Amino acid sequence: MEFLAAYDAIPQTDAAGRVGLLRQQMKADGPALLRELRERRPVFATPVGVFVTRMPDVVEVLSTPEVFTVGVYGPVLEEALHGPFMLARDGADLHWHDRAHAQLMLPPEDFAPVRGLTARVSDDALDRAVAVARIEGRTTFDYVQEYAAPVAARVAREYLGFTDVPEETLHGLSQRVQRAVFVNQERDPDVHASGVAAGKELHDIVAGVIGRRRAAGVRPGAPGGPAGDWAGDDGAPDDVLGRMLRTALPPGTGRELDDERVNNQLVGFLIGYQQNAAQCATTALKELVSRPDEFARAERAAASEDTAVFDGYVWEALRFHPFVPSTPRLCVRDHVLAAGTPRETRLAAGTVVHAHMASAMFDETVVADPYTFRPDRTPVHNMVLGHGAHDCVGKYPARAIVPEMVRRVLLRPGVRPLPGRERDLDYAGTPYPQHYPVTAGATASA
Ligand code: HEM
Repeated sequence: MEFLAAYDAIPQTDAAGRVGLLRQQMKADGPALLRELRERRPVFATPVGVFVTRMPDVVEVLSTPEVFTVGVYGPVLEEALHGPFMLARDGADLHWHDRAHAQLMLPPEDFAPVRGLTARVSDDALDRAVAVARIEGRTTFDYVQEYAAPVAARVAREYLGFTDVPEETLHGLSQRVQRAVFVNQERDPDVHASGVAAGKELHDIVAGVIGRRRAAGVRPGAPGGPAGDWAGDDGAPDDVLGRMLRTALPPGTGRELDDERVNNQLVGFLIGYQQNAAQCATTALKELVSRPDEFARAERAAASEDTAVFDGYVWEALRFHPFVPSTPRLCVRDHVLAAGTPRETRLAAGTVVHAHMASAMFDETVVADPYTFRPDRTPVHNMVLGHGAHDCVGKYPARAIVPEMVRRVLLRPGVRPLPGRERDLDYAGTPYPQHYPVTAGATASA
């Protein structure tokens, strides 16, 4: 039986039954469920909120922050960060101000140096993983634990400025916060408490790093190192933390850039980045290698110095498995969604709305031939980095880091997912892929 027929057959009074079926179906075959919703019930009201599945409606929700706010996860995020943050607020004061500040700190000019940094860190991690596997007599290594997670964390350490913080600490703590804020829909108290405690640990670690930098003389107006110089704690590395500590905002901009606020910004960046990067580098490889012809073409593109063509393969792969498939918004005033279309729906204040970006990217009325893998698609329809008022403010470094992490692997023919197990991500009972075995066949950098 099709999903909607089965769903409608459950009495409206049995909310748990309906939600159970929805979750079960989403897990069993999410793409098929979303396709049915787009075709038959594109604005789908359920006991856990309204699912918005078509591209124009997702765009409307994410671009109208005065109606659809981040109030669903905002309070939990600020509890975990122990302070205010842009992804927890909407409107002219904090969101506008902190986002403007973040845009200055994460500029497009970082693309090339961050790409170089990612290449170096990735090659080093691959050398290490292959060598350790050899020494231990293994023919494989774990792509998630020995490559994607540590590479993402080492890039965070050097580029964002978490000097001397161990990579396991950055990855583990950020995963706990991410899970408590964005994945814990049932508000499990243990998951919540663990995320809030992890956020406090990150806050205190960063307070220590900031304290050491201040003691070394890093202050507003102090000269920084040359662009792309990510090293050191005492001097003036041009990492994101160093930039923030050397920046004085002009008077009259409303909010002080004190050390506490710098702390909230930096930890917030890590929460926005670390799991996204590690998981995207994993799911992109899985989607590519599951399509042998595309994979062969991507391998050829990876060898080119001009990375634009290769990057198209990675973002298209992520369209099929984004890290953030859907983002919730709180409708704070009555609103008519998709006004004047057959989908027109009146939403009451207080409704939770799920803007389903993974579905929107397959909206056949907007995206040409959506089920075909096309690496040359326009980025306009790609929502892997979000959309609208809260789209990814780290998009420039993200566009360097994720494709380069995948590219370094493709440049090593000896490192490949195991034949027949290309789609075998092991989540180990968590919401995140934790293990993905790959062959450990070559030590030299390509
Ligand atoms: C590595 C791949 C990345 C992916 C796939 C990604 C994805 C996303 C997505 C989907 C959103 C929208 C969230 C929502 O609407 O609920 C977002 C927002 C955000 N991202 Fe990223 N991100 C990445 C990297 C980064 C990096 C490198 C940073 C900072 C260093 C960052 C910081 C942020 C912040 C602060 C926001 C919230 C912006 C706002 O509230 O206006 N992200 N990201």
